[in-house]
Amino acid sequence: MAFSVVVLAAGKGTRMKSSLPKVLHKVGGVPMVQRIINTVEQMQASAVHLVYGHGGDQLQDEVSGQNLNWCLQAEQLGTGHAVQQAAPHVKDDEDVLVLVGDAPLIRQQTLERLVKVKADCDLALLTVELDDPTGMGRIVRNEQGNISAIVEHKDATDAQREIREINTGMMMMNGGDLKRWLSELSNDNAQGEYYLTDVIAMAAAQGKVIQAAQPDEVAETEGVNNRVHLAKLERVLQRWQAEALMHGGATLADPARVDIRGEVQTGSDVFIDINAVFEGKVVLGNNVSIGPNCILRNCTVTDNAVIEANSIVEDAQVGEACTVGPYARLRPGAVLHTKAKVGNFVEIKKAILGEGAKANHLTYLGDAEIGAGANIGAGTITCNYDGVNKSKTLIGKHAFIGSNSSLVAPVSVGDNATVGAGSVVTTDVEDDALTVARARQRNIANWPRPTKK
Ligand code: UD1
Ligand code: CA
Repeated sequence: MAFSVVVLAAGKGTRMKSSLPKVLHKVGGVPMVQRIINTVEQMQASAVHLVYGHGGDQLQDEVSGQNLNWCLQAEQLGTGHAVQQAAPHVKDDEDVLVLVGDAPLIRQQTLERLVKVKADCDLALLTVELDDPTGMGRIVRNEQGNISAIVEHKDATDAQREIREINTGMMMMNGGDLKRWLSELSNDNAQGEYYLTDVIAMAAAQGKVIQAAQPDEVAETEGVNNRVHLAKLERVLQRWQAEALMHGGATLADPARVDIRGEVQTGSDVFIDINAVFEGKVVLGNNVSIGPNCILRNCTVTDNAVIEANSIVEDAQVGEACTVGPYARLRPGAVLHTKAKVGNFVEIKKAILGEGAKANHLTYLGDAEIGAGANIGAGTITCNYDGVNKSKTLIGKHAFIGSNSSLVAPVSVGDNATVGAGSVVTTDVEDDALTVARARQRNIANWPRPTKK
């Protein structure tokens, strides 16, 4: 059955001490509220009504969704008042899932469980039991064990404060019911707020059946109020992601020392050493090995390739059985074909290395195409920029570029051509030719060294 979602995200988040609205703080590289939107989009929610209050412009710049409806709550008068801002957009004959924007780890499978519980009752609540429920709304049950109300901590009696089952703030009910109950809320309570949680007692009084569902992990329901909470949930998410990689067949040298700020796909028998950081979308093929301290961002590393220690790979493609690093930097547009080798202190930008081509040491290749089997000597630089324009360097198959050469683009070096070490190449070199573009060596016999005057 179709359902819509209301995400409550109008709270200011004062304790974050930030110029950023709280829900824009990132967990796993994604703004908290965006994670929640992504999760419900996976469940094909018909609409997502986002109730916001602070930093509307920043939010609208950073957050997006397919059926996102922005609902301003100009003044924060409570969670019930927040849902009232979305209520005009909610249909009477659909179910509404209410979520909180600052509990970023909620999982789809848990929400699906809540949806399923709602299908068999009138109002479904996601609850958890806490050892220390201080501050939370308590789930009040009658003698039969049926839920009869939620009482906020500040309004609770001492006996009610003993209850350890708490409201996570996530619940689901019929849209028509919700709107009717919201219209009857009052703010006559300890905080002078319109509590969403008051609808529970109204539902119970009308004989509605209220059922609870529980998440697999309490962390899914934990909210972020300060940066200590944020860091805690970041570690929880990273642990889950590391475990998912290991269950998928990857070996992690230390699951506590890998950070995934995005999405990583792995083939079989991938090895990831310590302190790897993955950002955006990263695809690792079978038997890929990632050395310690590497950063990989939006890239593909194909089967049997090795990325050695301290390398950075960004918006690049690494072909089968290539080796990269240690200390290599592949920048956007770097494409390495099968068995290409890029060694230490080599920077590659917008350049293609053909099959088996090598640039083993101390080199910059930018705006270049390097043919298969070419050997780029240490210290080779493509001079791709004249201060105004970028130009291309073309190097043929099996070309040999001697060490410390400068290739002043636009320029090409033919197939099987050889460039003598230390050359500054400014004009094209034909196939099979040797070019030596440097001052000829002159030896002066018995040369008297200068002496001190
Ligand atoms: C709320 C619940 C409480 C529950 C707890 C779980 C109510 C009255 N209480 O309490 O039962 O145990 O969450 O964390 O619902 N928000 C708005 N507009 C407002 C007020 C809040 O959008 O006017 C949003 C906040 O941004 C936040 C969520 O609603 O995402 C919860 O608000 P919060 O102030 O944290 O509620 P609690 O008092 O903690
Ligand atoms: Ca809260």
